[in-house]
Amino acid sequence: MSELILGIETSCDETAASVVDCGRTILSNIIYSQIDIHKKYGGVVPEIASRSHVDAISEVVSEALKTACVSQNELSAIAVTAGPGLVGALLVGVSFAKAFAYGLRCPLVPVHHIEGHICANYISSDLEPPFMCLVASGGHTHVVYVSDYADFSVLAKTRDDAAGEAFDKVARAIGLSYPGGVEIERLAKDGNPRAYLFPQAMKNETDFSFSGLKSAVLNLLNSAEMSKTTINRADLAASFQNAVVTSLVTKTMAQVSDKGAKKLAVSGGVAANGELRRQMKAACESSGIEFFCPTPALCTDNAAMIASRGYFSYKKGAFAQLDLNAYPNAQIGDW
Ligand code: KG4
Ligand code: ZN
Repeated sequence: MSELILGIETSCDETAASVVDCGRTILSNIIYSQIDIHKKYGGVVPEIASRSHVDAISEVVSEALKTACVSQNELSAIAVTAGPGLVGALLVGVSFAKAFAYGLRCPLVPVHHIEGHICANYISSDLEPPFMCLVASGGHTHVVYVSDYADFSVLAKTRDDAAGEAFDKVARAIGLSYPGGVEIERLAKDGNPRAYLFPQAMKNETDFSFSGLKSAVLNLLNSAEMSKTTINRADLAASFQNAVVTSLVTKTMAQVSDKGAKKLAVSGGVAANGELRRQMKAACESSGIEFFCPTPALCTDNAAMIASRGYFSYKKGAFAQLDLNAYPNAQIGDW
């Protein structure tokens, strides 16, 4: 039986809506990206993001329903990202979803953005809990044990910068545009990952740390400028990327081994990185762990992952009332 969830995502700089059937089959996945608007500022400007969401949301939702060939009355529930994220940006999606759900007399399901990223792995795959998941995005770096569809335990996280944030900051320092991850990956293809040796922060700890690595890159650039030495940007990008990937793979695999997990999934914007996917897959293969990873387009922000996560809450009857707010600091497991 078909159970159609409309997902709405506005936590940062993508206005997205999607219709997903039974948490796994995408009928539509519309993403209006504001990247070109924010590019000239070198990062997301919250006020501009909120206003752009207001301008786009109505059309994006209509397009999602039209592409899916689904009428409003066929929806089982409306799932919306209620946090974490930029408060003004979140409020646009939450307010729209509340009005839509009220008008349709349809259940409203709040979704935690990171739990959404994890559920991107259910789309077009047969992954079932339990499994371990690394979520690496612009705002978060978490290793999460997923014991059931709505049951998550955070085992490790970053103590400072998120992995994606480090990519973005280093990219900016070497003159690449926002968002930096894709640009660094592109540049790194022509570079030597062993040209510069960067420290592995908190090597023997469970948690991640990326701010020391970022500072090491900035120090290298400053010293080179002072001593008038030339830095090979491609080598720098490749060496930095390799340091981030090594840390993500080593610490995640340590958790997989500790917990005796048999399956590992990765997701979040940084999981679109080809080198991370390649090294994590190789590490899983050599340890007999089944590896899952969404397509790159489902790693970065989208609403299909929100609809998927919303479906599992919908099945449990975990609905919100119309006083639902936006929660910029929401924690995994809040809903
Ligand atoms: O999940 P996401 O779209 O938004 C957040 O929830 O933050 O992740 C965006 C982050 C950005 O920091 C971006 O630079 C990074 O993901 N990213 C990448 C790649 N594509 C996006 N990082 C490394 N390699 C990539 N190919
Ligand atoms: Zn995200």
